[in-house]
Amino acid sequence: MKELSTQLQSMREQYDCEPLRRSAMRSCPFEQFTDWLNEAVLAKIYDPNACSLSTVDEKGCPSARAVLLKGLERNKFIFYTNYNSRKARHLSTNSNACLHFPWFSLQRQIIITGEVSKTEDQEAEEYFTSRPPLSKLGAWASDQSNDLDSRETLEKAFLKAQEKYGDNPPKPPHWGGFGLNPKSIEFWQGGPNRLHDRFMYELVGSSWNMKRLNP
Ligand SMILES: Cc1cc2nc3c(=O)[nH]c(=O)nc-3n(C[C@H](O)[C@H](O)[C@H](O)COP(=O)(O)O)c2cc1C
Repeated sequence: MKELSTQLQSMREQYDCEPLRRSAMRSCPFEQFTDWLNEAVLAKIYDPNACSLSTVDEKGCPSARAVLLKGLERNKFIFYTNYNSRKARHLSTNSNACLHFPWFSLQRQIIITGEVSKTEDQEAEEYFTSRPPLSKLGAWASDQSNDLDSRETLEKAFLKAQEKYGDNPPKPPHWGGFGLNPKSIEFWQGGPNRLHDRFMYELVGSSWNMKRLNP
């Protein structure tokens, strides 16, 4: 353990981005998000739309997991999941959530907080239709977040769904979207000597205020 700690303590990356100036930041956080997402795509980072979603349970205990951002519609960040999953259970009792985009290879992160609500079923239908057929079957096979006795049981459930629905499975009723309506969006970029840049946009009434934070 001591050896591991020594190893961990010696792991040290130097951040070296050019200072991020206030004048370079957009006044609209959604435009700023779009710029940075496009830069992450251009940089070919793996899964640029993957983010960590944090929720809290009914006792206030937090948990996090990765989801894929699949839309930015009407200023809401959209992801899709199983409405019977653990995260969906959390969101039904406490709609506050956080999305964290960890673009470490670009020395950047974005942290978004806000309240989450279910999207219209029609929107989920449209997205589900665009998914590859085998992923659609996976959504039927998995009783997400619940106990599973073996992989075999999951594979059998997949085959059963395939027998029933063939190549064009409909959207399961328990599968759909959530949209996070942001209250705050923080953009972080690494700088030399740990003098990182942080810009926090906060929703005040119906407009966005931006301020710089200490790193
Ligand atoms: C890169 C990546 C992307 C993922 N995207 C999704 C997603 O969009 N929706 C989803 O339900 N699970 C996704 N998962 C699986 C979740 O991280 C998680 O295991 C699952 O949703 C169950 O979480 P829960 O039990 O907390 O509800 C993804 C996992 C990874 C590693």
